[in-house]
Amino acid sequence: MTNIYVLNGPNLNLLGVRDPAVYGSETLSHVEKRCATVADECGFELDFRQSNHEGELVDWIQEAGRQVAEGQSIGVVLNAGAYTHTSVALADAISGLSVPTIEVHISNVHAREAFRGHSYLSAVAAGIIVGLGTYGYEAGIRALAYRAQA
Ligand code: DQA
Repeated sequence: MTNIYVLNGPNLNLLGVRDPAVYGSETLSHVEKRCATVADECGFELDFRQSNHEGELVDWIQEAGRQVAEGQSIGVVLNAGAYTHTSVALADAISGLSVPTIEVHISNVHAREAFRGHSYLSAVAAGIIVGLGTYGYEAGIRALAYRAQA
């Protein structure tokens, strides 16, 4: 079965505990369950992961890129957390293997500190979803599925 990767960067393991006024009270494992339901509904298998380590995220994006090339995956929904604002390496992995990637942010990064307004990923992403809360993950999965069928 073709898959969709949902990759989460640093501190997203703290969802539900970390700054609930900004990120809400839902945990990452609850988000994973919701993503699994939506992916299943769209006819795809879910591969949901979280890492606090930039290089591990690079490895996973490369893995996804190889699977996309082999027709085993349709791409990545990526909430890279703070690496969004710092990581040329993540952007290079996405563009280097042409990995269809939907960039997701739970919060509206443009309404927060100025440094969150810049993303190294946006220029290489297939689409960007910000400020919709954890619904952004569901929207990202549906966007990848729509894109794959178009
Ligand atoms: C985030 C926004 C980032 O600026 C922040 O560093 C995160 C989470 C979001 O989902 O809103 O860790 O990506």
